[in-house]
Amino acid sequence: MTKSSDLRLTRMQLNNGSSQIPALGFGTLIPDAGVTKTATRDALEAGFRHFDCAERYRNEREVGEALRAGRAAGGIGREEIFVTTKLWNSNHRPERVEPAFEASLDRLGLDYLDLYLIHTPFAFQPGDEQDPRDQNGNVLYDHGVTLLDTWRAMESLVDHGRCRAIGLSDIGLNEVLPVYESARIKPAVVQVEAHPYLPETELLEFCKEKGVVLLAFAPLGHGMKPGLLEDPVISAIAARIGKTPAQVLLAWAVQRGTAVLTTPRTAARAKENFNISALPDDALNEINRIQTRQRLNEVVKTGVPGFIART
Ligand SMILES: NC(=O)c1ccc[n+]([C@@H]2O[C@H](COP(=O)([O-])OP(=O)(O)OC[C@H]3O[C@@H](n4cnc5c(N)ncnc54)[C@H](OP(=O)(O)O)[C@@H]3O)[C@@H](O)[C@H]2O)c1
Repeated sequence: MTKSSDLRLTRMQLNNGSSQIPALGFGTLIPDAGVTKTATRDALEAGFRHFDCAERYRNEREVGEALRAGRAAGGIGREEIFVTTKLWNSNHRPERVEPAFEASLDRLGLDYLDLYLIHTPFAFQPGDEQDPRDQNGNVLYDHGVTLLDTWRAMESLVDHGRCRAIGLSDIGLNEVLPVYESARIKPAVVQVEAHPYLPETELLEFCKEKGVVLLAFAPLGHGMKPGLLEDPVISAIAARIGKTPAQVLLAWAVQRGTAVLTTPRTAARAKENFNISALPDDALNEINRIQTRQRLNEVVKTGVPGFIART
């Protein structure tokens, strides 16, 4: 990791040997298509160069349009941005992986991806229905495919040269380990919920030891209230150093060695969330001593996306 008190510039080396991921990323989990476009454009203008997308967010087309327009206006080359998207649960069958990848690339309007993640380790009934259920409302899982089967198909995408790195998401250490051990191409990134109330210390230690980047989502507690943004330790540090609670939480995430995703929806918040700098050691230690433990998103247990409303 590059070291500087100006954390906006932090980039982390990926284990593919050729790419670096900007530590501070913009997440595109935004239900409204119009807001997706303006927020993505605002994020690019504020300085974000890492964009996290997903087939499941159903807005790759809007993200792609906003990135194209913003890059043209700002003279920003493709190599200057880092774009991730994710394979959804209903596409885990190996023969569905490449078509799903191509469809995402097409919607994003890109000819390669920097990173492709398996969105969750849970395979759903294969097909175009993203949320397959039986008549009682129970999720229809697909027990005919293993995570390793899907991983092999992900490895082929890297072989074919249109995807620079692959990884996992919404997964615990016990499920990462067998994939890591059997993988020909090791996961470069593991994306999970992580913040001071869910520090994922054991997974982070594993990732650091293996050179895998842990990419934290919901660093601001998904904006839920009351929550991390109102935590007294965070608020006190923010007041003491003249930063906002959001800036404190994002800086903590980067300084502890994770990459991090945040979803500011306005231009002012994009500037605020991008403008992060290193916290003093005493502040880091105070945050590390917070005892509250809370998981906000149960997707890791079921594969059902906790922050996406059912339609
Ligand atoms: N792999 C997965 O399953 C998974 C799951 C969840 C998320 N993600 C990814 O991670 C990204 C980030 O997750 P997240 O949306 O939970 O991140 P987050 O940044 O913790 O929460 C976003 C919420 O925080 C609020 N917020 C943002 N900046 C703020 C600020 N400066 N001050 C006060 N409130 C602020 C926003 O509220 P307003 O709406 O009021 O602006 C927004 O709704 C997602 O977009 C997605 O890309 C992945």
